[in-house]
Amino acid sequence: MHTHEETYRQLEEKNRLAELGGGADKIEKQHKAGRLTARERILMLLDPNTFVEMDKLVTHRCKDFGMEKNKIYGDGMVTGYGKIDGRLVFVFAQDFTVFGGTMSRANAEKVCKAMDMAMKVGAPVIGLNDSGGARIQEGVESLAGYADIFYRNVMASGVIPQISAILGPCAGGAVYSPAMTDFILMVKESSYMFVTGPEVIKTVTHEEVTMDELGGAMTHNTKSGVANFAAENDEQLLMMVRELMSFLPSNNMEDPPTQPCTDDIMRQDESLQTVIPTDPNKPYDMKEIITAVADNRNFFEVMPHYAMNIITGFARLGGKPVGIVANQPAYLAGVLDINSAIKGARFVRFCDCFNIPLITFEDVPGFLPGTNQEYNGIIKHGAKLLYAFCEATVPKITVITRKAYGGAYCVMSSKHIGGDVNYSYPMGEIAVMGPEGAVNILHKGKLSEEKRAEAVEHYRDTFASPYKAAELGYIDEIIYPKETRIKLIQALELMQNKSKTNPPKKHGNIPL
Ligand code: HXC
Repeated sequence: MHTHEETYRQLEEKNRLAELGGGADKIEKQHKAGRLTARERILMLLDPNTFVEMDKLVTHRCKDFGMEKNKIYGDGMVTGYGKIDGRLVFVFAQDFTVFGGTMSRANAEKVCKAMDMAMKVGAPVIGLNDSGGARIQEGVESLAGYADIFYRNVMASGVIPQISAILGPCAGGAVYSPAMTDFILMVKESSYMFVTGPEVIKTVTHEEVTMDELGGAMTHNTKSGVANFAAENDEQLLMMVRELMSFLPSNNMEDPPTQPCTDDIMRQDESLQTVIPTDPNKPYDMKEIITAVADNRNFFEVMPHYAMNIITGFARLGGKPVGIVANQPAYLAGVLDINSAIKGARFVRFCDCFNIPLITFEDVPGFLPGTNQEYNGIIKHGAKLLYAFCEATVPKITVITRKAYGGAYCVMSSKHIGGDVNYSYPMGEIAVMGPEGAVNILHKGKLSEEKRAEAVEHYRDTFASPYKAAELGYIDEIIYPKETRIKLIQALELMQNKSKTNPPKKHGNIPL
C-alpha cells in the first residue's frame, strides 16, 4: 500500500520525466541550434498560464529495433490547448529532443485527438513542426499516422483555421500536412521544407543545392509561394502567429473578432488627394493608401515577399477585421500574372471561408502578355482569381484608384461578379484597354503622328475615366481619395447583415 505522499510523488516523477523530453543534452543541442524546445514554444505562443497538456504520458508501442526498451513519456509530441488573447486554440508541437520529433503511430493519435476535439468545439489548430519525418522504426504505422492527420486537415479546411509553423526540418511526405493548412510560417535559416532533399536530388538530377537554397524560409517565401510568412527566429514567428490569430474567427460559424477602435472613423487623409501621380504611367506605392485607411495604420501583410504585384493582408476598419487585396503599381505596374492570381485567389477563398469582408484596391493595367505566361497556363491560373471573387459571398467592396482595364477590370471584384459597393477615384480609368493600344487597333496605322496623338487624347478624355462606368451604374460613387476610410467603414456597416448563399452543390470545380 502506498502512502498519499508516495502516490503523488509517482505522478510528479512521471510529469517531470515527460517535461524533460529527450534530456538535458538534447535540450542544450536544440538551444545551441538557436531553436526553442516544443514546450518553450507553446508557452511563448499562448497566454500565460493557459496551457493544458493532453496525453502527456503517452508512449509508443513499437517493439522493433529494440524500441521497446526506449520509451519517453509524450513520445516526441506535445499536444493540448490554451488561449491566445483569451480565445481557445489547440496546439501540437513536435519535440525534436525525443527521437528527432519523428512521427510515430502513438503521437499521430495525439495530434488526431487534438484535431478532433478542435473540430468538436470549433477552435483553431496550430501545429509547431520540427521533425525528422516518419519514424523509421515504425514503418507503415508512421505513414498511417501521417495519413490520418492529412485526412483531418482536409475535413477541417474551411471549418476551423489551421496554422503551420515550421521551426526546424519538415521533409518528405510530412510537408503535406502543413501544405493543406491555411497559413505556413517559417524561420529563416533554421527551418526547411522539401519533398526530396539535396542528397536525393543530387543522385537523380545531378543538381547541387543546399538545404536552405532548396527549402529554406526565403525560398518558400519568394520562389515557390509555399510559405506565407518568414520570421527571424522562433520568438518572432510565434508572435506573428498571435497577430495573425487576432484577425481570425475561431471557426466558420463565427464573425472575426472585433477590437475597440481607437482611431477616428471620420479621419480624412489629405495626402491621399495627391498620392496618385498625374502621369498615368508613373508608379506609386499602393501600401500608402492601405495604411492611410486602416485603423491605426496597421496592415498585417500575408505573403509580402511573393508576387509583389498583388498585395494581400489583414487590417481593421472601425475595429472590424477585413481582408485586403490590392494591385501594386510599384511592382510590374501591378499587372496580373500567374503567381499573383494564385496568391490573390487563395487569400480571397480564405477570407470567404471565415466570414472576413474583402476590400479590393484596384490599379491594374491588365494581364501580363508573353509566351511564358501563356504556356504556363495564365488562362487557368488567372481564372482562379476570377472564380474566387465570383464565389465569395462575404461583403465585397472595391475601390478603383486608377487603372481598371480589360478582363482584369471584371476580375477584380467588379459589380458584375458580385461587388457590393464599388467606388472609383476621379482619376479612375475604366475601359477595354489603354488609349495607345485602343487607337492602334481602331486605326491600324492609318493616321499621321499628329492625328494619332489627337485620337489618343480623345480616347483618353472619353473612355479612360470612371464616368462611363458611373453613368451605367457599374460604379456606385466617385469618391475623393481623402475620404476613403470613412467610405469603406460606411460600406462595411451597410453590408453588416449581408446574407448571400451560392446554389447548393457538393463543391464547385475551381480551375486547378
Ligand atoms: C527515426 C530519426 C529520424 C527518423 C532523425 N531521427 N530522423 N529517428 N526516424 N526519420 C533521430 C536520429 O537518429 C537522432 O536520434 C535524432 O533523431 C536527432 O537526429 P540527428 O540526425 O542527430 O539530428 P540532426 O543532425 O539535427 O539532423 C536532423 C535531420 C536528420 C536532418 C532531420 O536526422 C535526418 O536526415 N533524418 C532523416 C530524415 C528522413 O529521411 N526522414 C524520412 C523522410 S520521409 P538520437 O537517438 O541519435 O538522438 C518521410 C515520409 C513521410 O518523412 C511520409 C508521409 C506520407
